[in-house]
Amino acid sequence: MVTVLSPRPDLWTLDPEILHLNHGSYGAVPRRTQELLAKLRAETDANPMLWFRSVAERLTTSRLELAAYLQTDPAGFALVPNASAGVTAALATIPIPAGSRIVLTNHAYGAVRYAAERFAKAAQAEVVVVDVPLEADDDTVVATIEAALDGRTAALIVDQISSATAMVFPIRRLAELCRSRGIPSIVDGAHAPALLDAPAEDGADFWTGNFHKWPAAPRATAGLVVAERWRKATVPLIVSWSEYDERLPERFDQQGTHDYAPWIAAPESLRVLAELEWPRRRSELSAMLDEGAKLLAKALGTSVAEVARPAATMRLVELPFAGVPSPEAGEAFKKKVSRDLKAEITLTAFDTRVFVRLSAHAYNSIHDYQLLAERLPSVL
Ligand SMILES: Cc1ncc(COP(=O)(O)O)c(C=O)c1O
Repeated sequence: MVTVLSPRPDLWTLDPEILHLNHGSYGAVPRRTQELLAKLRAETDANPMLWFRSVAERLTTSRLELAAYLQTDPAGFALVPNASAGVTAALATIPIPAGSRIVLTNHAYGAVRYAAERFAKAAQAEVVVVDVPLEADDDTVVATIEAALDGRTAALIVDQISSATAMVFPIRRLAELCRSRGIPSIVDGAHAPALLDAPAEDGADFWTGNFHKWPAAPRATAGLVVAERWRKATVPLIVSWSEYDERLPERFDQQGTHDYAPWIAAPESLRVLAELEWPRRRSELSAMLDEGAKLLAKALGTSVAEVARPAATMRLVELPFAGVPSPEAGEAFKKKVSRDLKAEITLTAFDTRVFVRLSAHAYNSIHDYQLLAERLPSVL
């Protein structure tokens, strides 16, 4: 492991008494962005009328910066509060005939699967879950999903980087496959911004991704990228004054009276990442996390999951559990780790295996993983 760039916890306000090893769930906002956010909110409360008159123009500026960061066409880029809202808006747009099938994989995020189930139920359609092995390479992923597509398929929903398995899916190939079959593709890129370069440019019909995860933007900031042919039909989930606006991004800018400050402050976090030399730092973090994950696996007497294409800054370390714990037992374990070991981790499950999903961001150092490896065996 060669790390040149030093960890920068000083740019965050994270409690130094805690090991923060789960950036992947809710992100963490740098101090500078928090300060801008506080300033914008103070401005709002100094003169709400003046603030709301200025929102449209400020949102446009922010949206253009966020679209440029994704290297996507700003005319097809809308702001949404989170990836869940992005997927839901996509599902609300595509035709789902009775008897059709929405296809997703066993790596899909639980709430996204629920969204598919809600729309399928309302349309008298069904959800089909394709089993993709954890160790699958790109060819296997494409072949396995292709085998599940047929004339009844209303849409394919696929992760770009999965949550439970931190695996990168071959989105360009899958989007191409769907296009060749005339099947709408919905890409859940919740983890993709800042972990992949130009994640929204793989040719999907719909792509959604969170800025509040790896780009460290204020919560709740996410984007929805819509292919040209769907732009007219795609509407926000909240009906507001923009209902008849022909322009997709502006239509999504209006969500009634709402706190727009996070969307306006979000580009500040992109500037922090740029100053952190993010792409170079990301590859250093990736190498550091490889080492950190191995340290933890050694301490637990287990192994690091053999994911063919792991996400740059997430790794799965197997836990020596006999089977998958109930959601309540999983929560109790995380609470115990938080309280007794002063460490924030998350657990994920796949088939019958249970993992700690480790994250690394610019505030982490190898010492964090060494400490977790020292402490975690005591609660097993
Ligand atoms: C793959 C994936 N999809 C969707 C989501 C939902 O994101 P949000 O809570 O921002 O809607 C997550 C959140 O962790 C995720 O990991």
